[in-house]
Amino acid sequence: MTVVRSTLSDEARRVSCEALQDTLVDLLGLSLTGKQAHWNVVGPRFRSVHLQLDEVVSAARTHADTVAERSAALGVPPDGRAETIAKVFSLPALKEGWLRDEEAVAVMAQALGSAVMRLRERIDATEKADLVTQDLLISITADLEKQRWMFEAENVPGAS
Ligand SMILES: [Fe+2]
Repeated sequence: MTVVRSTLSDEARRVSCEALQDTLVDLLGLSLTGKQAHWNVVGPRFRSVHLQLDEVVSAARTHADTVAERSAALGVPPDGRAETIAKVFSLPALKEGWLRDEEAVAVMAQALGSAVMRLRERIDATEKADLVTQDLLISITADLEKQRWMFEAENVPGAS
């Protein structure tokens, strides 16, 4: 059923919306991972890591909204259902229960790093299909890479 007609060709829309949907799953999963760590982190750096994690959650949620709405604007309904995230999400995830601060920092640095690498592939993929989508993905990558840097900077062996 075509409800929202696209300004793109079928192929350009397919490529763009696949990149947006995959990014949506990564971002929603990342926001859940961030909250899980925010609630379960323990250790001497609790306060700073607890607060820093909420910055990631907030960024991931904002960007998720942006990519979902871009997909809708291009005529493809975004899928942010819990069951879809549970089935498809594949960034580094957390174990159950309390989480040492250094472990939370390491996992978030890895998850953000993986998210950025995938986004870079999608930036390449959308180069021909839709520069507007590509531009959104570039902005999101810049922000996630900044978040990753801040965890990475804390994740120096022997620093704590
Ligand atoms: Fe909180």
